Amino acid sequence: MSAGGPAALRGEGLTRTFRSAAGDVHACVDIDLEARPGELVVVTGPSGAGKTTLLNILGTLERPDAGRVWVGETEVTALDEDALAEVRRRDLGFVFQSFGLIPVLSAAENVELPLRIARTDPRERDRRVADALRQVGLADHAGQRPGELSGGQQQRVGIARAIVAEPRVLIADEPTAQLDSRTATAVMDLIVDLVHTRGIAAVIATHDPILRARADRVAELHDGRLLAAEGRLRRDRRR
Ligand SMILES: Nc1ncnc2c1ncn2[C@@H]1O[C@H](COP(=O)(O)OP(=O)(O)OP(=O)(O)O)[C@@H](O)[C@H]1O
Ligand SMILES: [Mg+2]
Repeated sequence: MSAGGPAALRGEGLTRTFRSAAGDVHACVDIDLEARPGELVVVTGPSGAGKTTLLNILGTLERPDAGRVWVGETEVTALDEDALAEVRRRDLGFVFQSFGLIPVLSAAENVELPLRIARTDPRERDRRVADALRQVGLADHAGQRPGELSGGQQQRVGIARAIVAEPRVLIADEPTAQLDSRTATAVMDLIVDLVHTRGIAAVIATHDPILRARADRVAELHDGRLLAAEGRLRRDRRR
């Protein structure tokens, strides 16, 4: 599937200020950003630039002081907590830097969690879990616990869990930061492939130049401000 159509995720005028004794920190200042289906948007910038804050706002985990976020047609900044939880469950997948797996559960059980929460029919659940594990190359490791898997394998479980409920948006905050460079490259290849083949709109914060080079769009943050959103040309070059 190629990138296109209306945005799957859109933020407008996003602003977030943290107040502290040492003064105000402007973590996000009037940021506009969108991701379309099948589009990989990389958010980059130095430590403290506001990447995590921006991703948390776009992912509905945190509310902006000003500005609005849409997931598809739904303005999520207008929703109450219950409605937000429903949007998260139905439309959003998250991948975390530290994998976020539950140690006592097997790979398959970890991947299954979002479907259990969504009360997906058990047979459908098994089918989707097997499918997601196959897609990330872990079909043969379904029964292993996180502690019995390598870092790269654990993150692939994290990715399988993020995509198993077929979200339209994937949010990932430095998903490869804890991996060695070779493993990171393999995990990034997987993310890029899933985004493009499944038509997921992905917003990924990373310092990694390789992932950045594969982005359809790069949003560069500095002191909470968007410096540039380059890269629309790249989409035309693809395939
Ligand atoms: N809960 C909070 N309370 C106070 N200040 C915060 C909070 N969260 C973030 N900040 C501040 O907001 C700014 C942006 O932080 P953020 O975590 O978004 O940066 P980042 O770009 O993700 O950095 P890194 O690359 O280190 O992960 C920083 O100055 C940070 O100290
Ligand atoms: Mg961060």
